[in-house]
Amino acid sequence: MRRVVDRRARRLILLPALMLIILGAERPGSFQAAAQTVPRRGDATRGGELFAKLACASCHDITTPWPGGDVCPNLGNIATEAARIVRSREYRGKARDAAGYIRESIVEPNAYIVPGSNYRTAEGRSVMPPDFAQTLTREEIDDLVAFLMTRR
Ligand code: HEC
Repeated sequence: MRRVVDRRARRLILLPALMLIILGAERPGSFQAAAQTVPRRGDATRGGELFAKLACASCHDITTPWPGGDVCPNLGNIATEAARIVRSREYRGKARDAAGYIRESIVEPNAYIVPGSNYRTAEGRSVMPPDFAQTLTREEIDDLVAFLMTRR
């Protein structure tokens, strides 16, 4: 009889101890999972350097505001324009906010083509290169979006 009580008592002590160990071990894991689902902010400074280094700068004027740009839309105030376009009735893409619109413009240029006679090919495709989603890393795209969001 004593032994049974002893065993039960031991189990009563062991159980909370075990739970503490499990919970303690799980905390870093669940923190990591949460960090992965929160989108990276992107680094605007690195994005600016990338913009100048990649082909972007040879097409887009980053100092002059939209509308305008004979060959490519000016991006001097793209954050403001993106917010306007994404809410406009003509917009056909899937983005919900300015940053989403800028990201979509980079990774899927044909989702919505800015009106402008030189902005689309004779076949109706965007003149913007369609392969940045493949040639750039997710981090690089995050950085470019963060940089363009500073152009207000
Ligand atoms: C060959 C020229 C060319 C290059 C290189 C280029 N773009 Fe574009 N881009 C365009 C054209 C043309 C459009 C307008 C057509 C469209 O909406 O897809 C455009 C549209 C955009 C838009 C949407 C502009 C708006 O007013 O809504 C963004 C943002 C953008 N480009 C960013 C970039 C970034 C970032 C890079 C470099 C990674 C880049 N572009 C490289 C030609 C170019």
